[in-house]
Amino acid sequence: MKVAIIGTGSLGQSIAKGLLKNKGVHSLYLTKRNLNSIKGFNASSAVILTSDNEEAIKNSDILIFAVQPRHFEDLLEKAKALLTERHVLISAIMGFSIAKIEAIVGVDTCIIRAMPNTAAAVGQSMTCLSPNTKGKQKIAFAKTIFNGLGVSIEIPEEQLQAATVICASGIAFWMRLIRATTQAAIQLGFEAPIAHELAMQTCFGAASLLKASGNHPEVEIDRVTTPGGCTIEGLNEMEHQGLSASLIKGINTSFNKINLLKN
Ligand SMILES: NC(=O)c1ccc[n+]([C@@H]2O[C@H](COP(=O)([O-])OP(=O)(O)OC[C@H]3O[C@@H](n4cnc5c(N)ncnc54)[C@H](OP(=O)(O)O)[C@@H]3O)[C@@H](O)[C@H]2O)c1
Repeated sequence: MKVAIIGTGSLGQSIAKGLLKNKGVHSLYLTKRNLNSIKGFNASSAVILTSDNEEAIKNSDILIFAVQPRHFEDLLEKAKALLTERHVLISAIMGFSIAKIEAIVGVDTCIIRAMPNTAAAVGQSMTCLSPNTKGKQKIAFAKTIFNGLGVSIEIPEEQLQAATVICASGIAFWMRLIRATTQAAIQLGFEAPIAHELAMQTCFGAASLLKASGNHPEVEIDRVTTPGGCTIEGLNEMEHQGLSASLIKGINTSFNKINLLKN
């Protein structure tokens, strides 16, 4: 695989780390205007760092665009003359529709919108993929790339905004829940690093239990809630204080905001 990540910022670096860990790439071009922050990637012989997007596009087959939305249109305009049959254009850009990409590069380009998250860096991204008509031929291939960075599924493009909130913003939501648990553990007397470890590993364990068993969360909750015990007492207090309601409301507010953002 010859891959180029155009715009190697926060997300691009996460994807690059995941790709390099899997050792499936022959060459990996990483582009950005100021290369200082990605110099560390030079340690890998497969990596070429450059500010020359044209060079990266010409020498790669898979192009993963991960710039901010305001930079994307200009980049596509410059890229379109360089695109050939062999290129697969993967866009991780939030809110930039397939129709808008096709309007610039044409409907004959293989286009796949991908919504990964920063857990790609540790092979645990949840990535949602939506192809254009031509891109359907390459969706299985795209899945193999993103399955190497975690789990990927294909969804209709109309659901990508919602997926962005649940999966990309979701990283921040889960981090805040872990932080709150850590704060509570410190209050209960644990040193901060231990409190953090307890919160983190318990969160990881809870998700792992669901993944391994396929159980509904309430089944696992029932296993740890003794009638009249401390867990149900705490859980009910959290719900009295609006735990589920505030999460659902926050996610809906994020979704309303993402739909207001200019594409
Ligand atoms: N972060 C996430 O979790 C996440 C998840 C899913 C999707 N996304 C989407 O991914 C995109 C990037 O997000 P991010 O958080 O990674 O943003 P970011 O950290 O700002 O990264 C964007 C990078 O693009 C580079 N860039 C700008 N203009 C360029 C150009 N002409 N040529 C090459 N590189 C250029 C910038 O570096 P220089 O200024 O040095 O060029 C910057 O490092 C956004 O569209 C976002 O919607 C992000």
